[in-house]
This record gives sequence, C-alpha cells and structure tokens, in this order.
Amino acid sequence: MCDLTGKHGLIVGVANKRSISWAIAQAAAASGARLALTYPSERLEENVRELAAKLENPLVRPCDVTSDQQIADLAATLDREFGGLDFAVHGAGFAPADALHNPFVETSRESFRIALDVSAYSLVGLTRAVAPLMEKRGGGSILTLTFIGSDRVYPNYNVMGVAKAALESSVRYLASDLGPKNIRVNAISAGAIKTLAASGIAGFSSILQVYRDRAPLRRSVETSEVADAAMFLLSPASRAVTGEILMVDAGMHAIGL
Ligand SMILES: NC(=O)c1ccc[n+]([C@@H]2O[C@H](COP(=O)([O-])OP(=O)(O)OC[C@H]3O[C@@H](n4cnc5c(N)ncnc54)[C@H](O)[C@@H]3O)[C@@H](O)[C@H]2O)c1
Repeated sequence: MCDLTGKHGLIVGVANKRSISWAIAQAAAASGARLALTYPSERLEENVRELAAKLENPLVRPCDVTSDQQIADLAATLDREFGGLDFAVHGAGFAPADALHNPFVETSRESFRIALDVSAYSLVGLTRAVAPLMEKRGGGSILTLTFIGSDRVYPNYNVMGVAKAALESSVRYLASDLGPKNIRVNAISAGAIKTLAASGIAGFSSILQVYRDRAPLRRSVETSEVADAAMFLLSPASRAVTGEILMVDAGMHAIGL
C-alpha cells in the first residue's frame, strides 16, 4: 500500500543527513519514487548534492521558498522533467535567532514576518505552484511538518509556535480548496528531534529530556519514524485522509502533566 513505484516527488527542506526531509527522501526513494530535492542557498547546495547523489537519478534545483520566482522556476522544471508530480514534502522552517532567544513579547515585526513567510506562507505558495502538476496525474499528496508548539507553549519556541499554528490552519484551508482535484494536504506533527533547525532553539535539550521523562513511550522520535508515517500520507494507503495533523511524537500530545 505504501509503494511509490513510478511516482515522482518533490522534497523541500533537506539541509543535512539529520534533516527530517532527508529521512523522508530516503524512505520515498526506497519505496520506488523518483525525487527532486531543493536547496535554499548556495551555502547548502553542496550538502544537498552530496546527499542526493545517494539516490537514483535525482533532480537537484535551487528553491528559496521566500521567492515566488524560484518556486515558479522549480515548478516549470518539474513539469518539463517529470511531466507532472505525485507528491510534495514541505520541510522548510526558519525564524531569526533573536526571536528564539528573547521573550516572545519582544518579537519584532520583521522577525514575525520572516518566520511566518518562510515557515507558513511558503506552503501556500508551493502548493499553488505544484497543484497543476498534480492535476495532470489525477491528484496528489502534499505533506508538511509541524510541531505541537503551535498549540501549547514550549520554552523559546516562541514565534515558531505562531508560525506552526498558521501552517496547520493553512493545511486545512488548502485541503478544502484542493480536495475536489483529489489533491490531499496533511501535516505530521513530529516529536522533538535534534536537527539543525532545532539547534537554533535555546534550551532544546531540556525539551528532549521532558519526552524521555513523560511521553507515553518514554522517548522522543527518530527521523526514520517520521519518514515511515510520511510514507503512509504520501501513498494511496491514505487516499481518504486530508486536512489532518498526524501526531508522530511518542504520544507526548496525550499527556497533561
Ligand atoms: N526537529 C524537530 O524537533 C521538529 C519537530 C517538529 C517539526 N519540525 C519541523 O520539521 C521541518 C524540518 O526541520 P528539521 O528539524 O528537519 O531541521 P532542518 O534544519 O534539517 O530543516 C529545515 C529546513 O528548512 C530549510 N529552509 C530554511 N529557510 C528556507 C528557505 N527560505 N527556503 C527553502 N528552505 C528553507 C533549511 O534549508 C532546512 O533544510 C521544519 O518545518 C521544522 O519546524 C521539526
């Protein structure tokens, strides 16, 4: 059911081997998909190219998700090279460092704008660009990555929590818009994982310790576990699921105290 043989997918959000998006890319490739990976800047291009070289016949293209032009160029390339698209993974997230250290009340207008643009609006822009490619395939699956800091306060997560709330709401509105075209839009809310993005959040290790102490499974999660759940949401196994935020967090969301 989670077979992706003959499918073409886009993966946005690989920075290095610890990226959640990289684990999803590996799992999708192992399930038979051909993939396009993106990098947001020249600084990360080499990393992404090195990782992509482990995949079969990958496409590697630039895409800074704050640029409408780069999103449009990417969609045009995918149309030309793949002739359509079956699934897309949106794993881009960013907030300026000051917003992840200072009290939330100090968040500047500019940091708020950047965090919401990169981490939430980009799903809307990217979805709009790839939807016509998915229509060519009779439908598709779009997946983004979120965190429960959207709903509850986590120390120093701050404006990222606000951005994730906007992202999760966008999942539902996009699912409603695109459902008639058989394009599904879902999110995985992952438990805390030590990645590049996570290392920007002050005191992140203490969040991990709370998972070890209190989550029902007494641990947090691995990127490969998020990837396994992603295979369900990207494949026909989840063909009746859309507008969903799937918790892949060792049960942490179920705990009150
Ligand atoms: N690590 C966690 O604990 C955790 C938990 C739940 C959700 N998430 C979410 O998972 C997603 C992936 O994060 P990760 O933890 O794998 O870290 P990561 O740092 O590996 O991935 C974040 C990615 O965002 C990309 N990015 C940043 N600005 C961009 C831009 N302007 N254009 C295009 N891409 C841009 C980075 O290049 C990077 O690849 C993020 O949305 C993050 O919020 C992470």
